[in-house]
Amino acid sequence: MRYLTAGESHGKYLAGILEGFPAGVRVTKQYIAAQLKRRRQAPGRSARQAIETDSFEVVSGIQKEITTGAPITVLIKNIKVFNELPFSSVPRPGHADLAGMLKYDTLNAALIRERASARETAARVALGSFALRLNELLGVCINSRIVSLGGLNEITAQSAAVELKRARAAGDTLGGVFEITAENLPAGLGNFNQWDAKLTSRMAAALMSVNGVKGFELGGGFKLATLSGLAAAKTPELSGGLDGGVTNGRALVMRCAIKPVPGLKAGTPSINLKTFKNTEAVSKTSDTTAVFAAAVIAEHAAALTLAGALLEKFGGDTFEEIKQRVKLWRLKTGKKLAYGCAVSMPMAVRRPAKR
Ligand SMILES: Cc1cc2nc3c(=O)[nH]c(=O)nc-3n(C[C@H](O)[C@H](O)[C@H](O)COP(=O)(O)O)c2cc1C
Repeated sequence: MRYLTAGESHGKYLAGILEGFPAGVRVTKQYIAAQLKRRRQAPGRSARQAIETDSFEVVSGIQKEITTGAPITVLIKNIKVFNELPFSSVPRPGHADLAGMLKYDTLNAALIRERASARETAARVALGSFALRLNELLGVCINSRIVSLGGLNEITAQSAAVELKRARAAGDTLGGVFEITAENLPAGLGNFNQWDAKLTSRMAAALMSVNGVKGFELGGGFKLATLSGLAAAKTPELSGGLDGGVTNGRALVMRCAIKPVPGLKAGTPSINLKTFKNTEAVSKTSDTTAVFAAAVIAEHAAALTLAGALLEKFGGDTFEEIKQRVKLWRLKTGKKLAYGCAVSMPMAVRRPAKR
C-alpha cells in the first residue's frame, strides 16, 4: 500500500491517491467528513478554519461507499483560492520559506509556503480515514490524547480553553505533546531484517512528517535512558509495543512534541531578500496551537502505516480474506501472548464517528 498527496494551500484542490487498499471495505462519506472535521475544528485553530469547509469527493476506487481495490482518489476543494499568487520576498522564520527559497532559487516565499503549509495534511486525513476504518474493522483501535499544552500537564477541555484564550489575547502561540496509541494490534507486524522494514522507523517517519513535530518517543522513550536495567526489566510496557521493530502484542504507545506555532501577529524579525533590509514577518491569521489538530493528523498517519504493515503480513485483495487471516493469527498467537504476559489488549471502544 502506498499513498501520495498533491495540491497547494490556495490552489483549486488538494488531492490524495491511495493505492493497494483492499476491496470490500465500507467507508462512508460521513465517516471521512467526520475525520476531516475533527482536524479542521480542533481547539486552537484560526478563523481560516471557519472559511474552509473541506468539501470533498472520492472520485475513484469506490462504488456505493465500498472500496473496489482500484487506486482511491480523493479531491478536497479549497474555498480560498488565489487566481494569482501574491508576492512576498520576506521569509517567515520557523517555516520552510527560507530553506525553500534557497532550494528552488526563488524570491517569492509564497511559492514555497503554498505547498509546505500544513493544509496538505487535510489530504492525508482523507486518505487516512480509509486506513483508520480498515484498522477498526480488524479490531485495532487507534486513538490520541493531549499530554501537555504550553508546558502545562493534565490538560482538560476547560484548562485548555483558558490557556488558549490567554495565549491568543497576548498574541502568543503554544506547543505541546500528544500521544498516539494503537490497541489490539496483532503481534508480528513489521520486520527487523532491514532498517526500513522496522515498524519503529516507519512510525517515527510517519509521525515526524506532521508539520511542526520536533520530537518522537516510543513507549518509555527518553525516560528509559534514565532507568537501570533491573528497573527497566520490571516495566516491560515501556517498550511501547515494539521489540526489534516488530509488534509484541502490547499496545503501541508513541508521543510527539510539537513546537509552538511560528506565525505571530506581533511579527518575527526577518529580512527582505530583495532589498536585504531588516523587516518583520507578520502572520495575521495563525493558529494559536497546532497540537490538537496534529494529534488527529497523526492518528491518520499512524493508521496508514499500520494498515500497510497489516497488509504486508496478512495480504489479500479483499477485506474478507484479510479478516479471516487476522482471525486465525489471533487464535494462534493469543495463548502465547497471554502466557508471555505480553497481554493482548481487550478491544477498546473507539470514539464513535458517523459511519
Ligand atoms: C494542523 C497544523 C496547523 C498549523 N498552523 C499553523 C499556522 O496557522 N501558522 C503557522 O505559522 N504555523 C502553523 N503550523 C506549523 C507549520 O506548518 C510548521 O511549523 C511549518 O510547516 C514548518 O515545518 P517544521 O516545523 O516541520 O519544520 C501548523 C501545523 C499543523 C500541523
